[in-house]
Amino acid sequence: MIIAIDGPSAAGKGTLAKRLAAHFDLAHLDSGSLYRAVALKMLRVGQDPADEDLALAAAQTLRPDELADPALREEATGKAASIVAAMAPVRRALLDFQRAFARTPPGGKSGAVIDGRDIGTVVCPDATVKLFVTASDEVRARRRSEELQGGGGIAIYARVLQDMRERDARDSQRSVAPLVAADDAIVLDTSDLDADAVFAAALEYINRKIG
Ligand code: C5P
Repeated sequence: MIIAIDGPSAAGKGTLAKRLAAHFDLAHLDSGSLYRAVALKMLRVGQDPADEDLALAAAQTLRPDELADPALREEATGKAASIVAAMAPVRRALLDFQRAFARTPPGGKSGAVIDGRDIGTVVCPDATVKLFVTASDEVRARRRSEELQGGGGIAIYARVLQDMRERDARDSQRSVAPLVAADDAIVLDTSDLDADAVFAAALEYINRKIG
């Protein structure tokens, strides 16, 4: 069983993916961490994330231990991630890893939950279930700034909102694998739902689909 979860930043994909993986005993892959790791590797050595040759080299030499760095979650890393993620060679370099994860999930699990931007459209077009999780810009920016403040970061709502809109625009307007709901995805708008309600709605849909 493959559950593909796509959607813009801070819509609640990650939380939902973890809960579904635990519920169905599936492996979980946060595909955004791959793009973030490529970006972070470049930022750490002072490289420009817009340099395609260097970004490709960083993607080709990515190691599993680089996917656990806490700095992956920083806003600057997310911004740089969306720059390298618009490059076709970088996406190609990361595709095999994602498909292999779906085909042979680690830990002997019988399937996987993968969240990102192009999982239902490009990485796993044959996924058992496709969810497109979204929320209004304002709600997502509020959630993200609360998260940052909780983590000790200096977050100003207006700044978060602006950065988020820029990143979403870059993700939606790029020519390769743009952020878009697959034709056969169900759209879950989480603007007025808490994490429990999102989980319940997703579960109901999935059980109906696989039932
Ligand atoms: O989901 P997250 O915010 O961690 O993703 C960081 C960036 O990685 C996104 O803004 C997007 O540009 C890119 N990404 C992508 N395709 C995916 C997952 C993430 O292009 N499947």
